[in-house]
Formats: sequence, C-alpha cells, structure tokens
Amino acid sequence: MKHAHNQHESAPSRRPRLIGLVGLLALLVAGCSGSGPQTALNPEGPIGRTIDELWELVFILATIVFVIVQIALFYTIVRYRARKGDDSEPVQVHGNTRVEIAWTIIPVFILAAIAFPTVRGIFEVRAIPEGEDVLQVQVTGHQWWWEFEYVDLTDETGRTLVTANELYIPADTEVNLTMTSADVIHSFWVPVLAGKRDVVPNRVSNLTLIADNPTPPDAPHPGQCAEYCGLAHADMRFKVHVRSQADFDSWVDDQLTPAELPTEGAAAAGYETFANLCVTCHNSTVSGPDGIEDIGPVRTIEVDGVTFTSSLGPNLTHFGGRATFGSGTFENNREHLAQWLANPADLKPNLWELNDTEAGRILGMPNFNLSDDDINNLIALLEGWD
Ligand code: CUA
Repeated sequence: MKHAHNQHESAPSRRPRLIGLVGLLALLVAGCSGSGPQTALNPEGPIGRTIDELWELVFILATIVFVIVQIALFYTIVRYRARKGDDSEPVQVHGNTRVEIAWTIIPVFILAAIAFPTVRGIFEVRAIPEGEDVLQVQVTGHQWWWEFEYVDLTDETGRTLVTANELYIPADTEVNLTMTSADVIHSFWVPVLAGKRDVVPNRVSNLTLIADNPTPPDAPHPGQCAEYCGLAHADMRFKVHVRSQADFDSWVDDQLTPAELPTEGAAAAGYETFANLCVTCHNSTVSGPDGIEDIGPVRTIEVDGVTFTSSLGPNLTHFGGRATFGSGTFENNREHLAQWLANPADLKPNLWELNDTEAGRILGMPNFNLSDDDINNLIALLEGWD
C-alpha cells in the first residue's frame, strides 16, 4: 500500500512540501540576520566581542574550506562524467605522497588557527575578576524568575540591595555574577554581553559581564534563561540596564531607600491587602511610624559556603520603578498589572497548584479572586513604590 501510494504521488502534491522547505530555509537564513534583539552578533562589551570574533574566524575558515571543496567536487563531476559512446574509466590514482602530505598539513594549520584563539578566549571568558572595583552580584535562579543581590551595597542598617528581574550595572565596569539555583538547572544568558552559563542547584557558577555603554532607559539589554526549566522557561527573561557610574550610584541610593508606608487613599487600602496576602511570598522594606522594617519571609540558601538570598517571590520594595514585570516579560503598566492581579496564569503560565510555602517551593502566583477594588488599590500601592 505504501509503495503504491508513493508511486502515485503526483507533482502538485509535492509542491506544498517544496514551499514548506523553502519557507524553512528562509527562516533559517533570517536567523543569521543579526538584527534580532537577542543576537550575539552585535556584541556590546569585550567578552561578547571575544566570542563573536572567534565565531567570525571559524565561520570564515569554514567558508573557505567549503568553497574550495565544492569547486573541486563540481570540477571532478563535470570533467570526469560518463559520456555517450565513451566507456573508458579515467586514470585511477592510488597513493600520491605530495597530495597526502598537503591534505594532512593544511588541516593541522587550520585547526591550530582555530585552537589558539579558542583556548585564549575560554580563559578570558572564564576568568573571575577580582579587586575593589569589581561589582559583586549574587544571582539566584527560580522557577521562573531571577533574583539579584548586590552583596557589597548596603544601607546604614546593613540591609543589602535586593531586586528581581532587572539587573542594573555601571558601564565599563567588571561585574562578577556569583550564581546558584533555588530549584532546577537554569542558564543565565545576556546575548550581547556574554555567553551562557548554567545556574545549577547546590553549585556556584560565575559569569563576568562588562558593558561598553549605558543603555537607553527604554532599551535595556534583553536576557533569557537558556536552559529548559519547565512550564514558563520561555518567559524566564530579564533585563540588563547599563548606566553611567553616576546614574548607577543614584539608582543604588533609590533602591536602598525603603518604600513609604501609605497612610491614606487607595494605596493605604492596597497596603492592607498587601500585608494580609502578598507578604506570604513577597518581601519589601517599608518605612512607617514604627521605623524601617522588612515585611515578608526572609529566606536564604547556603551553597559552597556562599549565602544566597532565596525569596519565595520577587522583592517588591521598588516594583513601581521597574520597566517590566513577570520576569522581564510584560511592560509594567496598569493594564498588564490589572490582568496579572486578576489571574497571573492568564499572562504567564504557572503551576501554583504545586506551591508549598513551608518547603520553599513556589511555582507561580495563584489567582486570589481579588475584587476590582482590591486590584485598583494594589496597583495604586505598587505604582507608588518606585
Ligand atoms: Cu530557567 Cu529556563
């Protein structure tokens, strides 16, 4: 039956397949355009450039080899093809010392030309920067968001700067990321700045970021989890905002300032809901009549002698100042926020049914069936916390 079917396959039925193939090829080639936001081909820092230059070198050498081999192949096919009325075989050659030496030595040189810069590049990319001027940031990967703690940046009470999903770094500065995961294996990737580095539970890995120039406020460098980690892996994104040193310092000052406890209006009503509900998972540092206090569960994990902040949900002290939410996926505006608070899983898939606060396992925010008033009040509160 199968054979019969194949035999009777007519030309028109092959056309859709051909169109599909051409379409696939077009997509493949479009992938090389280098104009997408997550391209690694337009590096914005020295480490990204090292990787890009290596890729270019290998690409050029491979292209030269490909073209030479194809020319030789086509020449041979045409020159020695079977001709009508000519049954003679071309001369058969076995063993030609000169040719064999040539095709041994040339690949040795090509591989050496690739190996030396590759090894040098690996050492450069993997080196962990040291010294006073290096900005130290600890990264905790969670299903499905990123937590950042600037361990050396503290306020007068000793609280460190903790934020989520939007990493701020000064331009032209070495940033050492010390990373671990609270749950499964993730991979931290900012395509324009550096390669991918796995973020593994019970292990510490490091990645260096160096950015040439500040990014415009509305165009931070996109980042993405690059290791499949479950349902919302594709939405486990983040942003890297690069600032001048002065702008970075003022951002740090802002972040280390506690959120103001609202005393009246919608925001105050929102805070009541917040203090009853949201603090089950979310941390904030607030300043009120009782002074400065941390609300929400403070959790840490210890990995290889390093203490990582490992919160149940993103710290919300300065939520209103973030450009995005939902792990760098949605623009932070009223409309998205209202949708999110009405039912988070509508915007970003999650598995909140499997949450276990005691065990520290949170796989997303549940639908709390908040009323429209609750939602509007919470938005008023969070917008004020910029
Ligand atoms: Cu985290 Cu994919």
